[in-house]
Amino acid sequence: MKKDCLSLKDLSKDEILSLIDKSIEIKKKIENREDYKPLKDVILGMIFEKSSTRTRLSFETGMKRLGGDAVFLSSRDIQLGRGETIEDSARVISSYVDIIMIRTFEHSRLMKFAQYSAVPVVNALTDLLHPCQVLADLVTIKEHFGKLDNLKIAFIGDGNNMANSWIYAASVLGLNLSVATPIDLSPSGIVIKEAVEIAESTNANIELTQIPYDAAVNADVIYTDVWASMGEEEQTARKHALLKHYQINENLTKDAKRDYIFMHCLPAHRGEEVTADIIDGEHSVVIEEAKNRTFAQLSVIMKLLGRD
Ligand code: CP
Ligand code: NVA
Repeated sequence: MKKDCLSLKDLSKDEILSLIDKSIEIKKKIENREDYKPLKDVILGMIFEKSSTRTRLSFETGMKRLGGDAVFLSSRDIQLGRGETIEDSARVISSYVDIIMIRTFEHSRLMKFAQYSAVPVVNALTDLLHPCQVLADLVTIKEHFGKLDNLKIAFIGDGNNMANSWIYAASVLGLNLSVATPIDLSPSGIVIKEAVEIAESTNANIELTQIPYDAAVNADVIYTDVWASMGEEEQTARKHALLKHYQINENLTKDAKRDYIFMHCLPAHRGEEVTADIIDGEHSVVIEEAKNRTFAQLSVIMKLLGRD
């Protein structure tokens, strides 16, 4: 049966750890310009129903670097955007390509697409989850600190797809995660419930708080994301009002660990969720984090296609 990568909760701790190690190995090979083409003859279909810079470029360039190819499919151009059913789109598109990544709105659209696709499907962001981003973030943390455990990771801001993905990752890997959001912008209740169940066997420590300082104090990693995600434009004013005390700035980070790193999946809005001095400052690793998307996704594609 074909495998998909739709959520980190579907993977075991060992599988995620080996994807991280594989990403670092692929990064070395690509950076050393080694002749390494494990994806020769593989074509990736890339379906975007929302905008993207990093996801598109990292998937497309990554495929080409490892000997494969990629086809960009914007919903503005394909019939899916004009009402062709997900079932037909998935069956037809998967008859042309070897693997598909899709960025869409409701998570149920992704699930349905994967159900009808004949080839593996990778979640490239839904309203609920963004697993490829968190995998790249884990690679970045492992490279920086040499480990993932015994670190306090703080997610501060909107309880959105990034917060949900971090909660799943922490639960599976047994990490120490503190999530600070306003009560009205809490992460998904289903995600929290499932993560708590998973955490029972992994000893993950997942704290949910409404106090940004509680998350930031002693943190090794401070993570934030935009206050209004794609598709939520009409909620911008409400969310900004709720989140105004959740900005990552000098005051909030003053009691973090001295060598803490600042992370953000990007795109960022300076002066909203983070100040320019933090995101452009010495603690920020956001550019390396974006770069690591390529290697994390290639490790997933190789695993799904059995080329690892
Ligand atoms: N972080 C991320 O997924 O960026 P894009 O929206 O540019 O793909
Ligand atoms: N939460 C953001 C992430 C963008 C990469 C969004 O969904 O728009």
